[in-house]
Amino acid sequence: MSARRFRAPGRVNLMGDHTDYNEGFVLPMAIDRECLVTSTAREDGRIRARSRGETADLDAGGAEDPALVQPEWGRYVAGVARSLAARGRRAVGVDAVVESTVPAGSGLSSSAAFEVAVALALCDASALSLEPRDLARACQEAEHLATGVPSGIMDQLVSTLGVAGAAVLIDCRSLEVEPVRLPARLGVLAVHSGMPRTLESSAYADRRAACEAAARRLGLRALRDATLDQVADDPLARHVVTEDERVLEMAEALRAGDCERAGRLFSASHASLRDDFRVSTPELDALVEELERAGAYGARLTGAGFGGAVVAICADDEADAIGSAAAAAYGSRTRREPTVFRCTAVDGAGPVA
Ligand code: GLA
Repeated sequence: MSARRFRAPGRVNLMGDHTDYNEGFVLPMAIDRECLVTSTAREDGRIRARSRGETADLDAGGAEDPALVQPEWGRYVAGVARSLAARGRRAVGVDAVVESTVPAGSGLSSSAAFEVAVALALCDASALSLEPRDLARACQEAEHLATGVPSGIMDQLVSTLGVAGAAVLIDCRSLEVEPVRLPARLGVLAVHSGMPRTLESSAYADRRAACEAAARRLGLRALRDATLDQVADDPLARHVVTEDERVLEMAEALRAGDCERAGRLFSASHASLRDDFRVSTPELDALVEELERAGAYGARLTGAGFGGAVVAICADDEADAIGSAAAAAYGSRTRREPTVFRCTAVDGAGPVA
């Protein structure tokens, strides 16, 4: 049988962090960094996945507990096998070769890209067709099974439903998705702080639990439904409510091509993530400052926080200069080595012709 190839992109989030699991709004874009899975069906009901010289050998019906699989990256594959089995996938095995250009541990959703590409390969091998939202949900469940982190739906959903040249406005309650064209003169930079993400899983789960408790205290289904008055004295909940507003304003600013307004929303979002939601680090703060000083319209941490990357928006023709100047200033200030990626918005996951 001939090999089939599937790609799934990573993402940067332009606005709306720690809002997805509060049933709020997010505005991410799928980026030109992706995971590629080349697969061939096997007859013996095994998944043999290979990546960088290592092999994960797994039951195609998801029999293993994903959390215990070795090598560790095999946990995502086992998670996908299990969550798809629960959706009726026949246990057809595959030989799969995995390659990725999404930097791991950077907050650019390398794991979501991996899950989605594997899921497409496994669905294809057993002729299971899932609607993109169900595929994203299956991959979110796989992430929970593999890592124990109760992450939201944003990363998997934008990896499946991204649109070239656009960010996607996602209502994380209805899962409605609306593309928002990016202004042609807008450059997007992801800059890794050179600091791995630490405390991420436990702190993420703590923040999520605190948000859910705040909603319960207010008698609401989710913080999505809270007003600013209701959360004025609760910094965590206040972040969620103000960030949801910023997502909708950001979509308006992009539609209007108002890059300066978009930049001000970026700065306000970072301040809220730092001061109210407390998921920033001194390095991320320094990087945001240096990107803005170097001339970006705005910069903010992107994703869960606690290390990893920040995202900046700037004039497209100044992106390289701003990235280098900020990286140099940040490097001498913190003695960390940043990595700058220019990002282009691409389409969501699918087969590669
Ligand atoms: C991680 C999670 C997402 C989202 C972000 C924060 O990337 O996987 O679901 O909660 O953090 O916005």
